[in-house]
Amino acid sequence: MKRMAVLTSGGDGPGLNPCIRAVTRMALQLGASVVGVRRGYAGLIAGEVVELDRRSVGGIMGQGGTFLGTARCPEFRTEKGQREALRTLNRLGAEGLVVIGGNGSLTGALQLHRMGFPVVGIPATIDNDVSCTDIAVGVDTALNTILDAIDRIKDTASSHQRAFLIETMGRNSGYLALVSGLAGGAELALIPEYETSMEEVTRVIENSYVRGKAHCIIIVAEGWKPGTRALVDYLKQREDELGFEIRLTVLGHIQRGGKPLAFDRLLATRMGAAAARALVGGQHGVMIGWNDNRCEPVPLEEAVACQKELSLELRELAAIMEL
Ligand code: ADP
Ligand code: F6P
Repeated sequence: MKRMAVLTSGGDGPGLNPCIRAVTRMALQLGASVVGVRRGYAGLIAGEVVELDRRSVGGIMGQGGTFLGTARCPEFRTEKGQREALRTLNRLGAEGLVVIGGNGSLTGALQLHRMGFPVVGIPATIDNDVSCTDIAVGVDTALNTILDAIDRIKDTASSHQRAFLIETMGRNSGYLALVSGLAGGAELALIPEYETSMEEVTRVIENSYVRGKAHCIIIVAEGWKPGTRALVDYLKQREDELGFEIRLTVLGHIQRGGKPLAFDRLLATRMGAAAARALVGGQHGVMIGWNDNRCEPVPLEEAVACQKELSLELRELAAIMEL
């Protein structure tokens, strides 16, 4: 392999820059040149590229986001879009492609692999919902951002004796809500994978008040149904019985930004290096997973076959700690 391309696609998160840097530097070390594709699959179709050398990926280790840019690209879901993307890769002389992204982006990578182009994927999404890897790039930093917010909210909640709903990201996945609730000492986490009635939420808040707690913190995953707004409306009407006043904080996109922390910088570096090594070594159609504390290539097909399941052990632990 003399030349490879690299792109970031889908939702961004902390750690994408260290990942691009590692792909580039390992590829160069192994004798392959690297071309960076701007704006994910959209840039691949449009041919928006930049040549990468050791220096052009310098000084980005501590920067959030992705300097290549990212995008959602409906056109790439079509065969026509995928053929155009392949045309760009061929025109660039790229013999392989590293795709850094979440489930959608990795599914796109699998399409290119099925069309005969050598692709290696790297799981990067704050949601931690990609199968066949213990963790994805960005998750740890996002969790730390949420924990920082929980700690701050606890200060003000305790001062006023209030109950707070804190909404985390996770359209389809409760990982961020469950784990930040567990590590942040929340009274309850509401997640899409598990049904919790508004009456149960009410009981948790009432119990916290009766037991003399200074606050009650409930973490709500964005994808929990019937939704945070509906829950706020329901609870607001019952504030007199609850004891606590209700407040809501939606964390939103601050969870996706920020400088990557040590774990993500290292994970991204290891995965990026492993991806470049795999491509140069003739291994493709795989995703670099992080399992048993090491990088492990797993078939892309298996990685995107279904969304990663939430750990039952973590759920059981949370149920005990929340009491
Ligand atoms: P993420 O990678 O963060 O899960 P998306 O689900 O938005 O983000 O996917 C990012 C991009 O990957 C999409 O905009 C599209 O270009 C491509 N993609 C997603 N699903 C598919 C699919 N089934 N086939 C081909 N490309 C896909
Ligand atoms: O990165 C995944 C995710 O954070 C989801 O949890 C969330 O619903 C989605 O991205 C929102 O992304 P955007 O605002 O970029 O569409």
